[in-house]
Amino acid sequence: MARYIALRPMTLFGLSALMIFYAHLNFYEDKQRPFNTLYRLLGISYNSNGSEPFLTIFRDKHRKSFLHQRVEENPLTYKYLHVYMAVFWSIVMPLQHIDSFRVKYPTAHRVCGYLTLTGSFLLAATGLTFPFRGLSYSLPASLSFHYAFGKWYLPFITFNQGLFLVAIPQLFTLYKTVKHARRRAFAKHRYWAVLHTTSCYVIHLFRVYLAIAFMLGTVLAKSPLAFQTALGVPQGLQEKEEAERAVFAFCTVLAGITGFAWTRKVLSQSPKQM
Ligand code: HEM
Repeated sequence: MARYIALRPMTLFGLSALMIFYAHLNFYEDKQRPFNTLYRLLGISYNSNGSEPFLTIFRDKHRKSFLHQRVEENPLTYKYLHVYMAVFWSIVMPLQHIDSFRVKYPTAHRVCGYLTLTGSFLLAATGLTFPFRGLSYSLPASLSFHYAFGKWYLPFITFNQGLFLVAIPQLFTLYKTVKHARRRAFAKHRYWAVLHTTSCYVIHLFRVYLAIAFMLGTVLAKSPLAFQTALGVPQGLQEKEEAERAVFAFCTVLAGITGFAWTRKVLSQSPKQM
């Protein structure tokens, strides 16, 4: 027996919209370009030379956005199998959670189900190769950690470590979802599909925290230098780059915690058995 659990499609559509916004940035030659107008409106200096204020860009060692050249140099894995797939997945997955769509169009539900689940597999499979190919905005060493405020007693995981932790529930729930669908055990299939969806949407939640980080960066950029100095906001280019990488990784931690809390809430909401 599997418990009846469900997700609100509107929540999924909202998170998907944010994901699609981030994904589309990959298709500009200058990945920061869509932010230009926003920067101008906010009065933040943007020169494309890497000197932008802390957290208004996640810059790599070339002082460019971490997305720089990713799509152009890795069309198959990064562009088609990951970014395009992310857009397709993010549009179709919420549809799978609309009860009326499922009841009215069972064949479409089945076809979209296999496509999205194949997509989940390809996203995880390609994504897990990125850290090994220098395509991941992370501290590279597998056993290194970040330290909040430079304190040894406040360690937290790198972006790469976060990815591997996210991949475990994602692939496990994927396996269970497919297994029960093939056995036509639909109550169980549905249960695992919901868990698979929340474990994948951790990646979307991550983007929510990136957006919050950007807003924080904007507020800091607008605040007096004395205030920034008192807070220890990095000003040098290398300092900014290192700290941004750490914030990026910390967003993974926050997304993981939020995803876990969300899944627990979904599991506890279930009033009926199926
Ligand atoms: C276990 C599963 C996954 C892993 C390990 C993974 C890993 C990664 C990695 C390492 C990057 C490169 C970041 C960089 O350029 O530094 C990336 C980028 C990206 N991923 Fe995934 N990913 C996974 C699942 C997903 C899912 C489910 C989606 C959305 C449906 C997604 C959407 C994207 C997008 C759009 C990018 C391009 C960068 C951006 O626009 O933010 N990924 N992924």
